[in-house]
Amino acid sequence: MTDAKEKILIVDFGSQYTQLIARRIREANVFCEIVHHTVSADEVRKASVKGIILSGGPASVTASDSPECSPKLFDLGIPVLGICYGLQIMGKLLGGKVAPSERKEYGHAVLHAKGKSALFKAVGSETQVWMSHGDKLAELPPGFEAIGETESSPFAAISCPEKNLYAVQFHPEVVHTTDGAKIIRNFLFEVAGCSSKWTMQSFISSATEEIRATVGDEKVICALSGGVDSSVLACLLNEAIGDRSVCIFVDNGLLRKNEADEVIEMFRRIHPLNLRHVDASKTFLEALAGVTDPEEKRKCIGEVFIRTFEKEAEKVGPIRFLAQGTLYPDLIESHSPFKGPSATIKSHHNVGGLPEDMDLELIEPLRFLFKDEVRQLGAELELPDEVVWRHPFPGPGLAVRIIGEATRKQLDTLREADAIVMEELRTAGLYGEIWQALAVLLPVRTVGVMGDERTYENMISVRAVTSTDGMTADWARIPYDVLGKISNRVINEVKGVNRVVYDISSKPPSTIEYE
Ligand code: XMP
Repeated sequence: MTDAKEKILIVDFGSQYTQLIARRIREANVFCEIVHHTVSADEVRKASVKGIILSGGPASVTASDSPECSPKLFDLGIPVLGICYGLQIMGKLLGGKVAPSERKEYGHAVLHAKGKSALFKAVGSETQVWMSHGDKLAELPPGFEAIGETESSPFAAISCPEKNLYAVQFHPEVVHTTDGAKIIRNFLFEVAGCSSKWTMQSFISSATEEIRATVGDEKVICALSGGVDSSVLACLLNEAIGDRSVCIFVDNGLLRKNEADEVIEMFRRIHPLNLRHVDASKTFLEALAGVTDPEEKRKCIGEVFIRTFEKEAEKVGPIRFLAQGTLYPDLIESHSPFKGPSATIKSHHNVGGLPEDMDLELIEPLRFLFKDEVRQLGAELELPDEVVWRHPFPGPGLAVRIIGEATRKQLDTLREADAIVMEELRTAGLYGEIWQALAVLLPVRTVGVMGDERTYENMISVRAVTSTDGMTADWARIPYDVLGKISNRVINEVKGVNRVVYDISSKPPSTIEYE
């Protein structure tokens, strides 16, 4: 946990919406953290917690092995809001009764608010809410009253105002609950007395203070890729400790057209950093020669990266810390209590990340931020829009966008095609609407005709997706005339390509990258 001056704790019971609760709270400029449901009352007492939210969850509190929180959390004098499973666990632990519902309630319902609860301040007496539960509270715990009901839940919202305990059966964090954001804000400001002070500026001052306190007089090293996370991290470190933060930019030869030059030039001109540039493209390409299997390619690139990074780091002299741009969703993913061991779809998304056997201490100053907050932070740190709004780009770069062996010649072909795709999307004003766009070189030769000549060349697949986090994605509905222009230009301007296709697969079942 952080030692933030004021925060809300979200006790996680594994709901798919837990991160959304955090989003809603951050949007109200209040800091919050998600913690495992086994958090102890002592740990909570030591932190400056203004309120606790118990999340929803997939389990049933009526099952013998269902996850529980410590009942002592309710005796700390800290306001608590239970949501869905959070209501049921609160009900059960405080002496109420939870039973499986005869009618499961999924989707919209109308909530009738009763009385004048602080939780429903400025919320209409009838409001649309989103339900998703099988069990329901059948009997109130002693000292509680119903403050809202729906057709099938007489206890859709309950409270014990003396102890500042509140709970709702519906999900205020989802957009389908019309007054959901208002209800969460009511909990934060009317019930828990938060003061709405968490802004990116306050984050910068607390994060730089924390970096200085941790690092002391030592040096920090970080890998700069030019993507938004590592660029923001580099600027934040620079703000905190100036030249004692050393950035290493490894050009692996798998970058976009002119990308290496642009990144270096930008950081020399706009944000002068202590930056070391290593052109290792030859080493990477030699290592990739003859490698066709996607997983082997990724591993090979990862290994060469680590070796290159280590070699460069040695030149800097003794270093104690390695900074990484880990974000909050990565942190939650790796600590979530209910995530089973998921299958490796593609090995290691963090190529460009941690050299595990280096003897360095890890610092992760962005670990409590979501992606859009990192972008806000980048803007606050005066990074140019082209960095702040840059599409994600994978660590293994264009190599995972060439099916089969990635040779220098194929990389050059793909770079040209990719540059045209990006240029046309920017010209059409579509770049910002799209989560990520890419060109992929398919080494499938087909017959074409140019002038009077027969051609027998490769294919380019254009992919553009909309998404909020890259975990799921839909193909972007790019206007035909833009696609037409891209196709025309790629076929006419890029040697070795005589056909362009547009990829209309969503994720899942497809992935965004091809390998
Ligand atoms: P997939 O292809 O799994 O990609 O749908 C989801 C998102 O992750 C990016 N990606 C990577 N990012 N290192 C990264 O830093 C990687 O190895 C890597 N592989 C995929 C991908 O571009 C998309 O945004």
